[in-house]
Amino acid sequence: MPNPFTDNNTRILAIASGKGGVGKSSVTTNLAVALARRGAKVAAVDADVWGFSMPRMLGVHEGPQVVDPDSERPLMVPPSAHGVSLISMGFFAREDQPVVWRGPMLHKALEQFLTDVEWGTPDFLIVDMPPGTGDVSLSIAQFLPRAEVVVVTTPQPAAQKVAQRAAFMAKKVNLAVVGVIENMSWFRADDGKAYELFGAGGGQELAEALEVPLLGQVPLVPALREGGDDGNPIVVADPQNEASVAFAAIAERIAVDLAPKRIYRPALRIT
Ligand SMILES: Nc1ncnc2c1ncn2[C@@H]1O[C@H](COP(=O)(O)OP(=O)(O)O)[C@@H](O)[C@H]1O
Ligand SMILES: [Mg+2]
Repeated sequence: MPNPFTDNNTRILAIASGKGGVGKSSVTTNLAVALARRGAKVAAVDADVWGFSMPRMLGVHEGPQVVDPDSERPLMVPPSAHGVSLISMGFFAREDQPVVWRGPMLHKALEQFLTDVEWGTPDFLIVDMPPGTGDVSLSIAQFLPRAEVVVVTTPQPAAQKVAQRAAFMAKKVNLAVVGVIENMSWFRADDGKAYELFGAGGGQELAEALEVPLLGQVPLVPALREGGDDGNPIVVADPQNEASVAFAAIAERIAVDLAPKRIYRPALRIT
């Protein structure tokens, strides 16, 4: 089955981190919706096969529909919410049961996520990566060699070290890191003051170490967690929120500033 993402114009963003709990899935979900709100056609793959959380965060309650199940090549139509179509391991595993699939089965499953799904031609395919350099990361890199890796980190230097592993992963599998997003950067209290609960500077430091831009900083906002818990992403639920404004700005930087430049080769100029 051909993989439609090898040679189309879809930009592929792999959202990675060195460890769980830094807000990778929250960032993936809100960034996907923020890109859709800019008018882009957005697809998402929840490739965090052990810690899948995108169906809940995006508010997708049904799995894919299978069209023409008797045909030689039955295709799945991905469900969508807030303008983002999604395929997740969560649709094929029960939430109360650990996914015990091993490497080769996961590899096959991920391949089917890309090839047996009626994706159309999205402007962006955004992938919630599992932490680390395991089989899944290698499979994704193999199936999506054009993926641009965005590393999510928290502000403290220790987390930054962990996130750096994600960058090494990207190098190992030969994907380009294009930027860093710092999450949980501060908490703004009722007095209007921003408190840097987890320290400061980790995102900037990591960005400098990787020689890529810091794409933005997302504050710690209780409504962001609540929106993730009930499938109402904060960028939709409260677009004026400081965190939503940050996601909109990050989406713009990715869509505009990091857009592939038209290659200008003077040798090809017709004189
Ligand atoms: N900026 C934020 N403000 C408030 N809560 C957040 C923020 N980012 C993440 N969280 C919460 O932290 C927890 C872990 O986030 P999650 O996105 O699941 O992380 P990961 O995918 O890296 O494991 C979730 O409960 C999520 O709602
Ligand atoms: Mg996650």
